[in-house]
Amino acid sequence: MFLGCWKVCFKVGKKSLKDLASAMRSTSIIITAVAWLAWSSELAASDPVNDQWAVFPLQSGAFEIHELHEVFLTVQYGSGEPDTIRHRDEEEKLLGRMSRNHGTWDSHHPRHRLLQALHGFSRYEERNMAELNRWRGLYRHVSKKQKEVLEREVQYSGRFSTVERLLKSNQGLCQAIVDNALQFYRISNQELEKFIRDTEKSGSVAEKVSVGQSLKHFVRDWAESGIKERDPGFTCVLNTLDDLFPTQENTNAIPKVMIPGAGLGRLGHEAAKLGFEVTINEWSMYMNIAYRFLESHRERHSQTFYPFVDSWSHHASTNDMIRPVSFPDVPINASSVVLVEGDFTTAFKDGTGTYDVVITYFFIDTARNLVSYFDTIHLLLRPGGYWLNFGPLLYGTAPFVQLSLDEIVSVVESFGFQFLETKDTCGDITLPGKQVRGKEAIYGFNDRALTKNAYNSQFWVAQKQHS
Ligand SMILES: C[S@@+](CC[C@H](N)C(=O)[O-])C[C@H]1O[C@@H](n2cnc3c(N)ncnc32)[C@H](O)[C@@H]1O
Repeated sequence: MFLGCWKVCFKVGKKSLKDLASAMRSTSIIITAVAWLAWSSELAASDPVNDQWAVFPLQSGAFEIHELHEVFLTVQYGSGEPDTIRHRDEEEKLLGRMSRNHGTWDSHHPRHRLLQALHGFSRYEERNMAELNRWRGLYRHVSKKQKEVLEREVQYSGRFSTVERLLKSNQGLCQAIVDNALQFYRISNQELEKFIRDTEKSGSVAEKVSVGQSLKHFVRDWAESGIKERDPGFTCVLNTLDDLFPTQENTNAIPKVMIPGAGLGRLGHEAAKLGFEVTINEWSMYMNIAYRFLESHRERHSQTFYPFVDSWSHHASTNDMIRPVSFPDVPINASSVVLVEGDFTTAFKDGTGTYDVVITYFFIDTARNLVSYFDTIHLLLRPGGYWLNFGPLLYGTAPFVQLSLDEIVSVVESFGFQFLETKDTCGDITLPGKQVRGKEAIYGFNDRALTKNAYNSQFWVAQKQHS
């Protein structure tokens, strides 16, 4: 006889149902969950007669017989492909925006910016070889006698051929990124070749710095050697998320998180693992095509490249400089995160009050107009929603406004945000009497470098007040 509800205990960690929710959206994670299914919740306290049955004495003197099942449940959700309804909807909108007929065709058009990025990745080797050859040329200025020492002691010339070989290998990765993007954005080879021909005929060269930065983000976000760089900020943000949204096992609503300026998206993927529905946003097409590559190359350590050969400064050894780095360090579940490409302040026009959390991570100082970022964050959050910020105040070259931290706090409070108390594991209070903490965080890509680029990153949680 059926006596109660199925009791399902997924032994997959503290937030069992949240984890399950996340696994449901996971297609790369294969969870083997041991589920104990019983006909009633008292079973745990009972003494089963045998493996299949448990007998419960009732006060009346009668007995109830409960059937006990031990079920090994293997939940396998495909391979983490980015093909959920959310992904398909966003892809359709994106391809619409990417069409040449959409809006005005100029250098700001998303298709133009995409072609520019593809041009940059296509010419990675050529652009870096030009610099390598310049260094080769400069070496000629070293006297014959000095060269004899250098060649005898460190075989200096050998470096040029080694780096040349590794640049060629990196070009293989760049070409794979280009090929993947051509397919994803439905761009023909002919269109790209024509764009490159026309651009070069006009005297412009392919972009080099943005390509290098985007490649190095594979290390920051998706390599084992990026852990030290990720750890201080991620721990603080993710623990705070966990505290703000403790397990609500009977809640169906999955909180929505938005991360603008997400780079290659690792923080978004970590938030998704906690059970949040995550949307990331990124303006740079150099980042976006690298992220699209990650979406379709999700296997752990499936890619290897040589991120540090393009700069010969700050290396403790030549081996450090030419060392390979593999990524991703974990399998990627691309189904759990949706990327919305474009400018944060304009890409979410219809998203008013949609999000429970906005996380700005190394982002707010990229603003041309910081106040527009505040406007957008305020607009996107539901009343009671949270804005988490972690990052420096390194303003770019032409910001309309450059506020100091105390000014940011005043302006943000005037928008109707309340700064909440946060834990001292996220750093020390920066401004007496204000809930803003500073924590050192590296932004340097190379954990073995003889230099360190770190910021006193500012962390806060501001809650949008119900007006
Ligand atoms: C300093 S990087 C940080 C990237 C990532 N959050 C990280 O920590 O690795 C800032 C990112 O914001 C992006 N960005 C700048 N302005 C943006 C905008 N208006 N909308 C969306 N993304 C933007 C940049 O392209 C860049 O990838």
